[in-house]
Amino acid sequence: VAEPDLLGRHLVISAGGTREPLDPVRFLGNRSSGKQGYALARTAVARGARVTLIAANTTMSDPAGADVVHVGTAVQLREAVLKAAADADAVVMAAAVADFRPAEYVTGKIKKKDGVEPAAVALVRNPDILAEISAERPRAGQVIVGFAAETDDVLANGREKLRRKGCDLLVVNEVGERKTFGSEENEAVVLAADGVDTPVPYGPKEALADVVWDLVVPRFE
Ligand code: C5P
Repeated sequence: VAEPDLLGRHLVISAGGTREPLDPVRFLGNRSSGKQGYALARTAVARGARVTLIAANTTMSDPAGADVVHVGTAVQLREAVLKAAADADAVVMAAAVADFRPAEYVTGKIKKKDGVEPAAVALVRNPDILAEISAERPRAGQVIVGFAAETDDVLANGREKLRRKGCDLLVVNEVGERKTFGSEENEAVVLAADGVDTPVPYGPKEALADVVWDLVVPRFE
């Protein structure tokens, strides 16, 4: 049985990946399964927290004991996170948020026409929820955690991202075989704004989730 060191805390966790619709049947999306976010939710409930899980396009059943809000797009994810963050002690952004969305939503299915080349899809930037919430801190003393998946120069890119986003902790994953997307396991380094790195060896996503909570708890004021 886990120590109830998150008792009385409200934690907001985003999970999954946003889908940005092009037309009624198509979207721009990503490969996030939501497993890491769900592992964060399960371990937080086990440690006594009140959990709001904002789930973007996940297919797993809702974790017991968490309030779950299902969303589709980055704009919807932002609304749900900002609403829940108003009284949160910590916000953990494990969701893969699409950086861009189609500039235009076509209300009828886009058709191919003989002899006509496909049109280019114009994109516009989505809001950066992690950067916004880190800058605004809806509640004083709130701890904010981001995730980053990198393919190369993992630590250097992670450090730069931690600084740019302004969050307190950044969990950096190396994207690779049997790791990160859709997998049950993960391997990561948790970077802290105060400069102390915590490497987390290859293992279950629950183990990484528990390391994240171990690092969040002492940062509560
Ligand atoms: O910039 P990048 O997408 O690599 O950053 C990843 C982190 O930022 C994740 O924690 C993700 O949830 C968050 N993010 C966000 N809003 C975006 C893009 C990413 O909150 N538009």
